[in-house]
Amino acid sequence: PALKMWSGRFREPLDRTFEQWQRSFPFDWRLIPQEIAASQAHARAIAAAGVLTDDELTKMLAGLDAVGQRPLNWAHRISATSGIPDYETSNQQIAAAIVASAPQAEDIHHYVELELTREVGSLALKLHTGRSRNEQIATDMRLFVRDAIDATTVGLIRWASALLDLAERAGDDVMPGYTHLQRAEPVLVAHWLMAYTSMIERDLSRFADARARMNFCPLGSGAIAGATLALDRTIAAKALDFTAPTPNSMDATSDRDFMLDFAQAASTLGLHISRFAEELTLYATAEFGFVDLPEAFSTGSSAMPQKKNPDLTELARGKSGRLLGASTALATIVKGLPLAYNKDLQEGQEQIFDIADTLAGLLSVLPNFTRSLKFRQCAMAVAAETGYLNAMAAATYLSNKGVPFRKAHEIVGNAVRMGLERHLELGQLPLADLQTLSPEFAEDFFDAIDIRATLDCHDNSGGTAIAQVHAALHATKARIALL
Ligand code: ARG
Repeated sequence: PALKMWSGRFREPLDRTFEQWQRSFPFDWRLIPQEIAASQAHARAIAAAGVLTDDELTKMLAGLDAVGQRPLNWAHRISATSGIPDYETSNQQIAAAIVASAPQAEDIHHYVELELTREVGSLALKLHTGRSRNEQIATDMRLFVRDAIDATTVGLIRWASALLDLAERAGDDVMPGYTHLQRAEPVLVAHWLMAYTSMIERDLSRFADARARMNFCPLGSGAIAGATLALDRTIAAKALDFTAPTPNSMDATSDRDFMLDFAQAASTLGLHISRFAEELTLYATAEFGFVDLPEAFSTGSSAMPQKKNPDLTELARGKSGRLLGASTALATIVKGLPLAYNKDLQEGQEQIFDIADTLAGLLSVLPNFTRSLKFRQCAMAVAAETGYLNAMAAATYLSNKGVPFRKAHEIVGNAVRMGLERHLELGQLPLADLQTLSPEFAEDFFDAIDIRATLDCHDNSGGTAIAQVHAALHATKARIALL
């Protein structure tokens, strides 16, 4: 076979530097499983159209299977020479070996064709009948993103489960809730943790939406105008578990919405992870002292012997910047591209790989980190019970007695002022003094503003009343279990 997939029209060799520079095989080698699956699906479709005999199809499928084993073969070889077990050979080692093994492969499509030729001889050259690399890369990337969504979904469910376990363990423990990073009202620790499971549930639904929207098969779209063969496009679509073939060949070969959807869902998830990471970083400071960072997930300082640094949460916070960057890069690459395929699109692949790897890394550490968090309940409770976090409950008490809320707010504001001057909490002010501010204050005021009553006055769905949070925990666990 010719060294290039397109050399017939050319008489001059490529500039060597340009040739290396434009190759995508050094990074798109990771699409081997997707390229193999898509090629097998195409082989079935062209066999049905009469291009391959049954025998040829069988040979072709087996040859493609063999090519699909290349990464594993390299892992075995690397492990045989290095002594490390093959499941511990890194992606980088396999990449280096595969890329070095095929210096002439321009991209993943060329690589598979070259390797298939080694397996099945000239039969391999029939595989490209009626297809184009433009539809292939569009298909491979959809398959890759679909797998990445599935892996992310599993990881997110694990993280949500860890948060729910922690919420369950926290029971009725309390902490201050903050607005403007000023103490606002007490909340249950479980309520705070489930703010994050709410975000995760939305993330899961964003990924699921993206998956359903992208699950259409570009095969049969050709280079731009459609396949040059009367293919039954449903054959490939079914073989690859797509819902149906894509409806327009120009769109199918140039559409990268599915990558953008995934990148944007990943960025939003990254923002959630970053907020969680920021809160824990803050709560682990001596100034807050709410959480004892697990040593297994912290690091020391080479200079200051006393340090235990929150590297996990800091790196997690940083990774969200990386996700946002990749998503922005992708959108910038696609912006303004005329229809249909343009080589610029090749640049988008690395962004998607980076997003998938970054998410996989984050979700490999977050569940266990979350599960091993230990809260300093005492410090949290003290902080929840000092600083007039029950002022709103106090105003509600007066309003329940018929004082218009705006007036009640003013009266309790004056009570807070009185407390500040005397260094006393609202519940420590003598009743007689409170009554100088409003005759509605009575003995039952003190019970109405204790910590439990302060929580329980938020007794509606979505609120932090103890019974509400227990119900929410139950409902959330049930929803997650169904996923
Ligand atoms: N490596 C290319 C990419 O990732 C594959 C498609 C190439 N198509 C072409 N007409 N040059 O975009």
